[in-house]
Amino acid sequence: MEIKAIVGGITEIKAGAIIVNFIEEMPHPDGELATIDQALGGAISQLISQGGIRGKLNEITIVHSLGRLPASQVVIAGLGKQPELSQDKVRGVVAETCRLLRQKGIDSVATIAQGAGIAGISVEGAAQAVTEGALLGVYSFRKHMTKEAEYGEIKQLTVVDANEARLPGLVEGCNKGKILAEATNLARDMVNEPANYMTPGQMAKTAKQLAETYGLELSVLEREQMQELRMGALLGVAQGSLEPPKFITLHYRGGDAAEIDVALVGKGVTFDSGGISIKPSEGMAEMKGDMAGGAAVVAAITAIAQLKPEINVIAIVPATENLPSGDALKPGDVLTAMNGKTIEIISTDAEGRLILADALGYAKKLGAKLIVDVATLTGAMRVALGDIYSGAFSNNQELIDKVITAGAEAGELIWQMPMHEGYKGQIKSDVADIKNAGDRYAVPVTAAQFLAEFVGDTPWVHLDIAGTSFSEKERSYLVKGATGVPVRTLVNLVLSLAK
Ligand code: BES
Ligand code: MN
Ligand code: ZN
Repeated sequence: MEIKAIVGGITEIKAGAIIVNFIEEMPHPDGELATIDQALGGAISQLISQGGIRGKLNEITIVHSLGRLPASQVVIAGLGKQPELSQDKVRGVVAETCRLLRQKGIDSVATIAQGAGIAGISVEGAAQAVTEGALLGVYSFRKHMTKEAEYGEIKQLTVVDANEARLPGLVEGCNKGKILAEATNLARDMVNEPANYMTPGQMAKTAKQLAETYGLELSVLEREQMQELRMGALLGVAQGSLEPPKFITLHYRGGDAAEIDVALVGKGVTFDSGGISIKPSEGMAEMKGDMAGGAAVVAAITAIAQLKPEINVIAIVPATENLPSGDALKPGDVLTAMNGKTIEIISTDAEGRLILADALGYAKKLGAKLIVDVATLTGAMRVALGDIYSGAFSNNQELIDKVITAGAEAGELIWQMPMHEGYKGQIKSDVADIKNAGDRYAVPVTAAQFLAEFVGDTPWVHLDIAGTSFSEKERSYLVKGATGVPVRTLVNLVLSLAK
């Protein structure tokens, strides 16, 4: 979809459809809507007075212009009650509207910076939300479908504003929205890709292409190099699979110093069968998405490379499969992580924390000043918070507050979970320094407590996205399948840290 930001009156635009808004409890159409109403001979005010248009959030009304306007259809999208409006609601309304228009065969859409000036939303923020809503809402993954789609695509979105002074904000917002939404859709593509395509090797190839496109520094460590670095935990998980593991890093240098300001670490298990502690077959296919954390950090750094903040960021993805075989890791085995700590394996299905242990160790070795890891780490996180909130754990309140704020801005909800010394007893081992699983209580917390052993006192946040990386149904600007969470949170965070 091509995105354009221009100065002009929405009523003068020739497009398949123009989208304008109506707000709940507003007595009369005003602004653009009043102009359109006039052109349509009062059709809209009549609809309003008859109760056909009420302005409820996500209410969509299509009126055909029958030649009285250059655009063939006028869409009146409800924004709900004025004080309750938010950028995220704008994203949702635009997504729903665009999906409906696509279904109606519309291929070009024009709209205004929806919500600008309401509830503290700036022109830039509104333009960004409109762009994100459109691009995220019409996302689809049809790569492996040989049949053509039922509907065509919306090829163009024009965001217009009559006030020339607002053009820079409009352009800026559309540009940022496009970068963020495209990065999110990139993560979605990687997660939706079946595990026989998105292998660790393919993740490395994807990272290489992205590095070339966006001018990032790439490094891919092979098994021998992991051995030299003594990444025993990652190697232990990888040993059961015929697919060679890859340790992928992408480096963005926007700051002047050589140091690494932020390390974004993402779990890259391209398929999690559970290993010898094998998972039930029902629902196992979902585990192709166990690299959603890795996809998110890779996608986020491509957006960062385009937005160019003055800060140095590294994305780190330990990528491997987790399979059972004659060579596979077994319960009872003891592994030595890169930082020298020994780990007793209780469950080979608690593999995420093992590969993260070495990735966090690597980030520490590079001297990263701050670490955020993202992982589909525990099924219990999903049981606890569902697909609405991601869980966050941290050793630093200031940093987790920033992450939560960055998430709220993106409409990616994050809930702080507790950490406490008291949980450590659960992962105390009789034969090694630590064990990789505790009892059946507080599983997401003990997982975080395990990771904490590998970050020391570096400010760190762990995001468990087991529930939010995937959506069972179409909802707002999410479609069924991968959500791309928390790409936009990570980008917002890095931008705020660079300020
Ligand atoms: N990848 C899974 C967690 C998961 C489950 C993500 C469902 C998304 C949806 C992870 O590797 C795992 O298997 N975790 C175990 C941990 C347990 C063995 C301590 C779990 O949650 O059961
Ligand atoms: Mn697992
Ligand atoms: Zn897993």
